[in-house]
Amino acid sequence: MHPRVQEAMNSRLKVSVLLLLLAGVRAERTEVGPAVCHPDCTKYGNCGEDGHCRCPFGRIGEACEIDFLAPCRQSPEADAHCGIVSSKSCGCWRRCREYFCVQTDFGQKCHEFDHWDRRACFHREGLPPDQQFSNFPEPEEKDVKCFEGYTDGAKEVNCTEAAVFNNDVTHPLSECPKQCSKRGFCMTLKDAPGFGPRCRCDRGYYGEGCDSEQENICYKQCSGRGKCIDHFCHCKPPYFSIGCTRSKVYPANYSRPSPVDFKIYMYELGTQWAYENFLERFLDSPVRTEDPSAASLFFIPAMAYAYSGNVGVANEHLTAVIHHIKHTYPYWNRTGGRDHFFWQTNDRGACHLSGDPMDAIKIVHFGSTATPDNHGTMPPLGHKSYGCAHPLRNVVAVPHQPGDMAGWRGPGT
Ligand SMILES: *[C@@H]1O[C@H](CO)[C@@H](O)[C@H](O)[C@H]1NC(C)=O
Ligand SMILES: *[C@@H]1O[C@H](CO)[C@@H](O)[C@H](O)[C@H]1NC(C)=O
Ligand SMILES: *[C@@H]1O[C@H](CO)[C@@H](O)[C@H](O)[C@H]1NC(C)=O
Repeated sequence: MHPRVQEAMNSRLKVSVLLLLLAGVRAERTEVGPAVCHPDCTKYGNCGEDGHCRCPFGRIGEACEIDFLAPCRQSPEADAHCGIVSSKSCGCWRRCREYFCVQTDFGQKCHEFDHWDRRACFHREGLPPDQQFSNFPEPEEKDVKCFEGYTDGAKEVNCTEAAVFNNDVTHPLSECPKQCSKRGFCMTLKDAPGFGPRCRCDRGYYGEGCDSEQENICYKQCSGRGKCIDHFCHCKPPYFSIGCTRSKVYPANYSRPSPVDFKIYMYELGTQWAYENFLERFLDSPVRTEDPSAASLFFIPAMAYAYSGNVGVANEHLTAVIHHIKHTYPYWNRTGGRDHFFWQTNDRGACHLSGDPMDAIKIVHFGSTATPDNHGTMPPLGHKSYGCAHPLRNVVAVPHQPGDMAGWRGPGT
């Protein structure tokens, strides 16, 4: 492995991958000012308030200089994907595994990847790792080998077999219109049989051949302060945060604000996947403050849905996020988390939480209070006396389904 990659990977081992964009120790600050990071940070990333560079998906390193998931792109210009539906290069699976599964204080974090070990893949012989792109080999390509599994000693298989996963088939780009503009995967999905190969476009692209570009897929369209690249706002300094909505960093300050001037501070977790509708409104809402010491409430934008699947348990993820917040900022400990809130979406939402995440306010969708004593149609889950939602602590909010679902295809492929 390249020593810089090794170095970057080592430094990441201590941190949950789910937190990989927010690792490290917060620089002590004594005055209000712009965030200060590695001098090259803003070439690809944004300078976070903790002095660490926030990289777009797939990039790592102090200044995001390493395009770690390059093999997961179909071409150098395309987006990187780690989704399991389409077939990918063996190098891509290995990098995805390294990117997402690391040893943390909470154990090996690998949920979505555990059953991937035997995922079939292809390898173009003689090409260096960063050029093992994930466009499925064309029939006439020579020196391609396919494997069942991507670890050492994986069994070689016929590439026709390597194209199939759970009855979904990945095709060479030449079998789809306009080769999907090299901005999507060419696939026949089992849920849509009879259609033959079709493009599943990268996020932000649409049309039969992925040749149309969707505009404004970034929060606040980056507030006019940056460029939207693959759902990541690359902000002009001194701007940072989701949608380039912040420019100032405040020193940590334990004092409590006046309860009358109600403000909410949002932690900077540096992720691009959020509870979109709420976030979109919150980002430039007058209730938001950049100064945590002026906040009555603290919003933790932990992306539990994106990482936990439909009804997966987000507890480990949230525990890791809270661990970071607890050790980096003084605010959680002041109230034991009771003035902090996060979303717990989906039907089971907060049902399976335990430990630190229990203490915060949860915004949930179902708000089930079914218990062993009172359950009706909902099975009793969660806390034995109040079920999945504490009526005095939690807030029930209806789910919001964006009208345009095109964007949801990206993460899965
Ligand atoms: C690969 O497998 C498919 C179907 O299982 C078969 O039709 C094809 O002939 C095989 N190709 C090679 C090169 O073995
Ligand atoms: C802490 O915050 C309070 C309220 O915003 C402010 O009055 C005080 O000057 C701050 N202290 C420091 C050391 O910044
Ligand atoms: C908050 O409390 C925990 C112990 O529960 C401690 O380990 C941590 O260092 C404290 N955080 C800060 C910022 O002091």
